[in-house]
Amino acid sequence: MTDNITRPEDNVQLKNVIAHAKEYGFVYQSSEIYDGLQAVYDYGPYGVELKNNIKDLWWQSMIKLHHNIVGIDAAIFMHPLTWKASGHIDSFNDPMVDNKDSKKRYRADVLLEDKAAEYESNGEPEKAKALIQKMSRLLVKEDLKGVHDLIVNEDIRCPVSNTANWTDVRQFNLMFSTQIGSVADDANAIFLRPETAQGIFVNFLNVQKTARMKIPFGIAQIGKAFRNEIVARQFIFRMREFEQMEMQYFIRPGEEIKWYEQWKEIRINWHKAMGIPDTKLRFHDHDKLAHYANAAVDIEYEFPFGFKEVEGIHSRTDFDLGNHQELSRKKMQYFDNEINKSYVPYVIETSAGADRLFFMVLSNSFREEEVGEGENKKTRSYLKIHPGLAPVKAAIFPLVKKDGLPEIAKKIYNDLRFDFNLIYEETQSIGKRYTRQDLIGTPCCVAIDHQTLEDDTVTIRERDSMEQVRVKVDALKDEIGNRVSIQNILKEIA
Ligand code: GAP
Repeated sequence: MTDNITRPEDNVQLKNVIAHAKEYGFVYQSSEIYDGLQAVYDYGPYGVELKNNIKDLWWQSMIKLHHNIVGIDAAIFMHPLTWKASGHIDSFNDPMVDNKDSKKRYRADVLLEDKAAEYESNGEPEKAKALIQKMSRLLVKEDLKGVHDLIVNEDIRCPVSNTANWTDVRQFNLMFSTQIGSVADDANAIFLRPETAQGIFVNFLNVQKTARMKIPFGIAQIGKAFRNEIVARQFIFRMREFEQMEMQYFIRPGEEIKWYEQWKEIRINWHKAMGIPDTKLRFHDHDKLAHYANAAVDIEYEFPFGFKEVEGIHSRTDFDLGNHQELSRKKMQYFDNEINKSYVPYVIETSAGADRLFFMVLSNSFREEEVGEGENKKTRSYLKIHPGLAPVKAAIFPLVKKDGLPEIAKKIYNDLRFDFNLIYEETQSIGKRYTRQDLIGTPCCVAIDHQTLEDDTVTIRERDSMEQVRVKVDALKDEIGNRVSIQNILKEIA
């Protein structure tokens, strides 16, 4: 639930991050040459590296650091009954309202949040707070008539028709559907998965048996998920196609609170290890529990537009396995020989959005600082991304394009490219080349200069301090490795 009601698109800091993401090859609007597709985005050369590093960190921290967690990669398409069992066909809805004059459809809660933002910017924060509280109460009770009446009483008008001629508020299912096979009829309808979790639940027995897992154990997965989100205005915060990193931890019934608390701790520490400050992270207990949960909390990060969810931790009980057991008529039981009993395991889920974590890391690392004195004073922009996550680990520069320096620089590049993602550049002044690397967050720039010819040393210029240290060419691999290894983050988590 929103507790910060500043409209994200009005936020200057956010605008700078979005502009930076596009200008420096991190994120582009999908199909931009055709004016784009709303809430769908593509990752550019540095974006894909950063996102892959975040996913890699998550995967390694789940699989390598926990002897009892294994991974899978399930298909996006699943048997349609999966979504009946999971509750998504019946309960995966957003409250929508149409304007009868413009025929435009809106999320009812977002219309009310926008009205609250208007109160806020008009200097009426009390009114804003009261409206949000009223709306939250109605949504928790699923009182759609009450939500409709609130929209009307607040005289909220359609931005297109400027009328308050609203339909009833109705629930709108967020799943995308398509057809499988050659005949397009309802019988062949199939959904694009709205969460990756169900691929794990339907494989519970396969994995438990084939990997000989004993409770408690976890199954982790990274993959695409799809939701027909109606509100699309927070850059990559709310996408229609996005990636989830989910882990289901199967436990004995009755032990869920212990494991829930444990996973809350493990997960928030994971975020901190990526360099996200404590002050910008918090837990937020759910007011309204999802249809599958008996306890749920969000880890929220303070984006430029307020604290927002980046990961959910849910106690899902035996809801999913129990329903799959009923609909598939296959026993989803586990025989626990320690207590000599069979049961349908309970589940604690950790569910993070790779794109939201990417957005968090990018927002958190964006820096604009004054450097220099007097006439030389200027603003320095750079990305202070944790070196273990940085898209490019080092850039190799010959100081000048002559005197044999490019040859040495290329040899260094060729030797190190097996270990690190590198950039080689020899054009423009070295100052401009440093600036360019700062803008994509490269932690180390290696310069090969005339002294290299004499004593086989090069400089490493560090991104954050801009300080330069001289090191032997032979030591370069270790020097860079010690600074940029993802293992540094893993050791902090372990
Ligand atoms: N399996 C549970 C589940 O899907 P969720 O809270 O709906 O729970 C989990 O989603 C995470 O997935 C969120 O914390 C968020 O990071 C990410 N996520 C959800 N919807 C998203 C969207 N439309 N765009 C980007 N990320 C999204």
